[in-house]
Amino acid sequence: MSMKADGIFITGTDTGVGKTLIAAGLVAVLKDQGIDVGVMKPLESGAPSFGSAPIPRDALYLKEIAGVHDDLDLINPYCFQSQLAPGVAAEKEGVQIDLLRIKGMYDELKGRHQFMVVEGAGGLLVPVAQGVLLPELIKLMDLPLLLVARSSLGTINHTLLSLFYCQQEGLEVAGVIMSKSTPDADPSEESNAQVVTQLSAVPLLGSFPYLRDYGGVRGNRAFLVQIFTEHIDMEKLLERLGLTGC
Ligand SMILES: Nc1ncnc2c1ncn2[C@@H]1O[C@H](COP(=O)(O)OP(=O)(O)OP(=O)(O)O)[C@@H](O)[C@H]1O
Ligand SMILES: [Mg+2]
Repeated sequence: MSMKADGIFITGTDTGVGKTLIAAGLVAVLKDQGIDVGVMKPLESGAPSFGSAPIPRDALYLKEIAGVHDDLDLINPYCFQSQLAPGVAAEKEGVQIDLLRIKGMYDELKGRHQFMVVEGAGGLLVPVAQGVLLPELIKLMDLPLLLVARSSLGTINHTLLSLFYCQQEGLEVAGVIMSKSTPDADPSEESNAQVVTQLSAVPLLGSFPYLRDYGGVRGNRAFLVQIFTEHIDMEKLLERLGLTGC
């Protein structure tokens, strides 16, 4: 990965693995380094509606952390109430997801900011339309990936499947971050990270801890930055993205 990346696409081995908090941590750390960061959560589902239009919570949170004034409709062009994969939710709600429209919005935001942090939806192979999977959008955006993986048992399989798919499809992966999103004790965690590192050429950039006070950290920017920098190898990530010296 020698070219300077325009941004990063944060994907996961699953939904609920911690993509949003890691995306937010990364945005906050980059901003603290003086980088003008734009954000996007192009496809959000399972959004609460309170009787009005569905509210894209991830997009709103990322917008707040980035402190950007971009329209929420640009940051999040598609939001669904149904707790379903985006393509399935779209079909149920009678909407057609247009990847070129998303790409146009991404280009608009990219033109306004130095670096883009884009959060995916669920895992990597989620449908976005009939017979179309999320990597089609990633290829249009031409962004390297950051893969967030569960730290618990089963993650070796999920992580390697995702990485091997990326390799096969020519998708660049800047690194993997393991994330502990449940408090359950799991004796495999100690070795999982090491095994994944041994079996793939993609660097492990760190392991994000389980946060007893998840809501508190989410709402406390300084604390989020502290936890992120303590556990994630930012130097290596910046080097992988060609951002060293920014
Ligand atoms: N590090 C953590 N510590 C404690 N709880 C966590 C952590 N990360 C995630 N969680 C829990 O898991 C839930 C899902 O996390 P998060 O929303 O970040 O996942 P996601 O990968 O962004 O999911 P989606 O695919 O819906 O965007 C959170 O609401 C929180 O309850
Ligand atoms: Mg999320």
